[in-house]
Amino acid sequence: MRKLKLTIVSMLVIIVFLIVYLSLFTKNTNYNTAGDDNLIFQKEHNIENNKSSPMNSLKVYKSKFANIIDVVLFITTDTESKDQLNKLWPKISVVAISGMSAVTNDQAYSHAGKSSHKHEEDKIDDSVNAIYNCVPHSHVSLPVTVHKNTNYNTAGDDNLIFQKDHNIENNKSSMNSLKDYKSKFANIIDVVRQMNVTPLLVTLVNRAYLPFAFSWLCNTEQMGIHKQVLFITTDTESKDQLNKLWPNISVVAISGMSAVTNDQAYSHAGYIRLMIRRTQILLDILQNNISIFLFEVDCLWIKNPVPSLVKNEGYDILVNPVSNRPGVVAGGFIYMFPTYATKVLWTELNAKLLTLEKNISNLSPKMGILESQNDQMYLSDLVKRRVSGLKPKYLPLDEYADGKWYSFPEKTRATLDPYVINNNWVIGNNNKILRAKSLGHWFVLSDNTCDRDQIKKIVKR
Ligand SMILES: *[C@@H]1O[C@H](CO)[C@@H](O)[C@H](O)[C@H]1NC(C)=O
Ligand SMILES: *[C@@H]1O[C@H](CO)[C@@H](O)[C@H](O)[C@H]1NC(C)=O
Ligand SMILES: *[C@@H]1O[C@H](CO)[C@@H](O)[C@H](O)[C@H]1NC(C)=O
Ligand SMILES: *[C@@H]1O[C@H](CO)[C@@H](O)[C@H](O)[C@H]1NC(C)=O
Ligand SMILES: *[C@@H]1O[C@H](CO)[C@@H](O)[C@H](O)[C@H]1NC(C)=O
Repeated sequence: MRKLKLTIVSMLVIIVFLIVYLSLFTKNTNYNTAGDDNLIFQKEHNIENNKSSPMNSLKVYKSKFANIIDVVLFITTDTESKDQLNKLWPKISVVAISGMSAVTNDQAYSHAGKSSHKHEEDKIDDSVNAIYNCVPHSHVSLPVTVHKNTNYNTAGDDNLIFQKDHNIENNKSSMNSLKDYKSKFANIIDVVRQMNVTPLLVTLVNRAYLPFAFSWLCNTEQMGIHKQVLFITTDTESKDQLNKLWPNISVVAISGMSAVTNDQAYSHAGYIRLMIRRTQILLDILQNNISIFLFEVDCLWIKNPVPSLVKNEGYDILVNPVSNRPGVVAGGFIYMFPTYATKVLWTELNAKLLTLEKNISNLSPKMGILESQNDQMYLSDLVKRRVSGLKPKYLPLDEYADGKWYSFPEKTRATLDPYVINNNWVIGNNNKILRAKSLGHWFVLSDNTCDRDQIKKIVKR
């Protein structure tokens, strides 16, 4: 009997242990899943991050590397090397560049690391889709994920491992390129300059979002805004498909976000990476003094919102609140006037994301990311704090609706006359498409042509 009791007690202990153990691995599964896109994004460490003073980094925007270009000959990839050089050769100028950390331990480096639990890998999800607002980000808790990253260059047997970076212009030919350094995304800025429009309507799409892009293009075909639209794709196939079906739309593909097929998993890092990239591109555009309307293509445009947005001169930024999340603004529906305050805000946002990225790479794969740590929460906070005297306008949700609109009673909907309805607050691309279709908010047919009858029924001009 005593033995049986002991057995029962020890079983209970094991069960409790198991529950605790499992809960460790089921924590933070609240992120959204959206479809079956298979993108893995590469890390990039060498974008300057000056946390200490975004204002200052804004001022020195055109010459981020000014401190190293004078006569400095030693550029080290880590502070230890710098310290050793300084010690032995105090008169030699040495600078250490950040984000190039040398590691002797593969696992420590790739925050990818290695998963000790297959289970964990299964949970890795397409968190990158959070950018697509399936559920507003505040609702999304992203897991730190574990990825095998194959994009390493190994340089000899000194154990230095650098990750490839496809995104920074590589002009070895001259120091001049540093002096003349203006824009990280010169090719995109070239396209933008040629477009010569204001505001510039910018959206980022990946392959999984092409159906939404096509429906949106049909939706807005007659609004006369297509010449102002810049699609940024994360892969060249998406660019090619967009170009083929919509030859008049400007599309640029960004590199370093290469799609990897047969890998269902996204890394949190991938999401952060993409946010950093998007933020930097937008900053470059702002630095060129161009107004930006950032939007996402999973959005119904009932009436063209651009003319009413443009009118808000005097504000720095127009943001869209998120339903049921006081103080939170949407990360993917933003109108920006290229004012000094907006540039400061955007520079700070970028710095915060870069910090987050570094933090993540130091975390154990088992650890989740706090809900408060994502681009949308950072943006909300910066807007709330009115950085640099920022003047924000919060767009009314009844005119710029989010996905909660779909759960309103029909009566309520009938009283509203929104410009747009962001199709978020639903999990999964297919569900999102089904919901749009159920109300006739889907405008592309299976052969990718536009459903003009449906457009006529829904879209007001
Ligand atoms: C970062 O900001 C600090 C404080 O304003 C400044 O002294 C420093 O030069 C900046 N560093 C870089 C790399 O721009
Ligand atoms: C690289 O440097 C050369 C020589 O200064 C310059 O002519 C060329 O435009 C630069 N290329 C890029 C991509 O910046
Ligand atoms: C592209 O623009 C040209 C000239 O404005 C126009 O004739 C043509 O119909 C447009 N094509 C499409 C597919 O919209
Ligand atoms: C943008 O505007 C600012 C402030 O008026 C000006 O200093 C800067 O040179 C402009 N930049 C470009 C690229 O036109
Ligand atoms: C990064 O980690 C440090 C130390 O844990 C913390 O103080 C800081 O708030 C974190 N920053 C971000 C952006 O997550």
